[in-house]
Amino acid sequence: MDTSRLSRLWGLGSGGLLLVAVLWGVWTGILDKPRQVVLTIPPGTAVRLQAGQVVTAIPQTIHLRVDDVVVLQNQDQVPHRVGGLYVRPGETLSQPFRRAGTFEYICTLHPENHTIFQVAPRPSLFTLLGIEVGLAGVLLQLSGLLLGGWATRWGGGALLAGTVGILLGVGLVLQASGLMNPGAEDWQNPVPPDAISLQQGQRLYAQFCVPCHGGSGRGDGPLAAHLSPPPADLVVHVPQHPDHILFQLIQEGIPGTQMPALRERLTAEEIWHLVNYLRSLTHTADSKPL
Ligand code: HEC
Repeated sequence: MDTSRLSRLWGLGSGGLLLVAVLWGVWTGILDKPRQVVLTIPPGTAVRLQAGQVVTAIPQTIHLRVDDVVVLQNQDQVPHRVGGLYVRPGETLSQPFRRAGTFEYICTLHPENHTIFQVAPRPSLFTLLGIEVGLAGVLLQLSGLLLGGWATRWGGGALLAGTVGILLGVGLVLQASGLMNPGAEDWQNPVPPDAISLQQGQRLYAQFCVPCHGGSGRGDGPLAAHLSPPPADLVVHVPQHPDHILFQLIQEGIPGTQMPALRERLTAEEIWHLVNYLRSLTHTADSKPL
């Protein structure tokens, strides 16, 4: 058994493990406080948007870490909306992001009306633990080779322990980075589109939407002629949005248009019924209008 090489390996190895820990701590800034990401909507933004210009004040994709706070300042003359924030002229609002994931939000500042918030997990001590356990596994494997590999009892034991260490390390890193538990469940429609839901949705649609969007959703309700911009043709527009964006549209309305915010008049469940109904409306629009 080559003990001097083995002890040199572990001498260097443990130094390496320590160095990794220190570098990691400095690099990831684990002690960093959550950031405030300040986004300012400059004066004249809506006018420029209307003139067809591209507005770059708010990036299309905003990169954050868990617990970062987005602060939205509206210096424009009209209200704007980015995600759950509806900011009136001169107002400043903030929204914390508590979970990792990719969230697509309604936003009045982009031609496609969507902004994406990419929220990365904050590096936790588990990430470091995973890296260290994995590296210790590598050291054990090297030791196993020095000890004679699978042919010897000690060598085989060290190789086996090393393999377990590496797997454990990778598992810990994946777990800590949130890859094993993506948290987008809030954004899925929790209400199945069954007959009862569609019936509820139809009732609510008749009550809240028909005057503008019309019975078949084509944007031809009795009030439509008086509106500028005209109500959207839902048969065309609904398929362009995922469920949670439709949810936000109904909940928050579209500032600067007649599309009303219904968050005070409808419960979340009722809005999901409406979303289900809108989907069915677009599927059956050609064959059987309401
Ligand atoms: C007072 C009229 C009015 C009422 C009531 C109304 N809307 Fe709208 N809606 C509009 C207008 C106007 C637009 C178009 C805004 C625009 O051009 O950006 C619109 C846009 C939309 C859009 C967005 C389409 C897109 O891709 O931009 C959806 C979805 C929608 N309405 C659904 C509904 C639903 C569901 C209801 C009932 C809960 C409803 N609306 C009630 C006027 C109305």
